[in-house]
Amino acid sequence: MDKASGDELAPIDPAAISQRKLFTGAAMPAVGLGTFGSDRVTPAQVAEAVKGAAAVGYRHFDCASVYGNEAEIGASLEAIQAGGIKREELWVTSKLWNDKHNDVIATCRKSLASLRLQYLDLYLVHWPFPNFHPPGCNVTARSADAKPYIHEDYMKTWRKMEELVNLGLVRHIGTSNMTIPKLKLVLRDARIKPAVNEMELHPHFQQPELFNFVMENGMQPIGYCPIGSPGRPERDRTAEDTAPTQDPVIVEIARRHGIHPAVVCIKWAVQRGQTPIPFSIHNYRANLAGVVGDPLTDEEMREIAAIDRNCRLIKGQVFLWKDGQSWEALWDVDGEITPP
Ligand SMILES: NC(=O)c1ccc[n+]([C@@H]2O[C@H](COP(=O)([O-])OP(=O)(O)OC[C@H]3O[C@@H](n4cnc5c(N)ncnc54)[C@H](OP(=O)(O)O)[C@@H]3O)[C@@H](O)[C@H]2O)c1
Repeated sequence: MDKASGDELAPIDPAAISQRKLFTGAAMPAVGLGTFGSDRVTPAQVAEAVKGAAAVGYRHFDCASVYGNEAEIGASLEAIQAGGIKREELWVTSKLWNDKHNDVIATCRKSLASLRLQYLDLYLVHWPFPNFHPPGCNVTARSADAKPYIHEDYMKTWRKMEELVNLGLVRHIGTSNMTIPKLKLVLRDARIKPAVNEMELHPHFQQPELFNFVMENGMQPIGYCPIGSPGRPERDRTAEDTAPTQDPVIVEIARRHGIHPAVVCIKWAVQRGQTPIPFSIHNYRANLAGVVGDPLTDEEMREIAAIDRNCRLIKGQVFLWKDGQSWEALWDVDGEITPP
């Protein structure tokens, strides 16, 4: 339900969306459209949503080669620009998949060709673990040559990411699914530091320590699964998972503002300082409208801060490199990089 119900289809002025200033001085829209169809939504549907989202005011799109829809999104990006929105008004992110850590430049060029772009605004190393597993595989699947985080190897990949910037193919580079001890090493050794860290962030998984570390080190946290990913694949669900949109605190705030609980999650994210990238093919306008006007009060922000449950939804089990390990090993929960 959109509060401005008489105005449901009217575009939102992109100039009204707050921008995140990155360390380069570049401005990134503080909300973007996610494009992972979660095996349920086809590439054509996602590509249609990208066009529709641009028409209602989105300028930031979070893509990845592994989502299997960059070619379709590329056609939409071309149509969007043909319709008069300039390339420099768009912010397009893509990501290097895990089996391509040794083939950065050619892989990035492939994404650029699919997306029909001359450059990306942001290119991320999707996960810090180099291993291959087929798309859609079960969480119990293990790659025979799965590896832990090996900093020297990550830096070899990072040097190539830096080269992408020098080649003018990419404006910013960043990390994703990192932890504080891993980021400390990358920040120590990078020639071009990560502009962002993309990480799971929603009211039930606020990651305050990592969030603060990222902010204090001049990076921007991009928050994935900002609504708690209600449409995520079955393989990414466990009995312990909770849904922020069903939390009584979120439901009550939504009632007060006359908006969907999902929109409360987006408002909270932007007001807290991260950049949420909600996926949607049906509700993207409401999510964007949510970040313009009618802010959450300080008291509501405090109420949401208090409902963190440390509930990680995307656990990353497929990246485990040894039998019998639990997924926590991927996330350095003791504050040290989990030894090989
Ligand atoms: N870096 C990484 O490793 C990583 C990992 C996971 C995700 N991501 C990125 O983050 C994006 C977002 O994460 P996500 O797609 O998993 O989850 P999400 O954005 O938390 O949730 C998306 C789901 O919420 C529904 N929804 C959205 N807005 C709504 C609203 N206003 N009211 C009711 N329902 C609403 C959508 O349904 P409708 O389509 O029906 O609106 C969709 O099923 C991904 O698409 C991807 O780009 C990155």
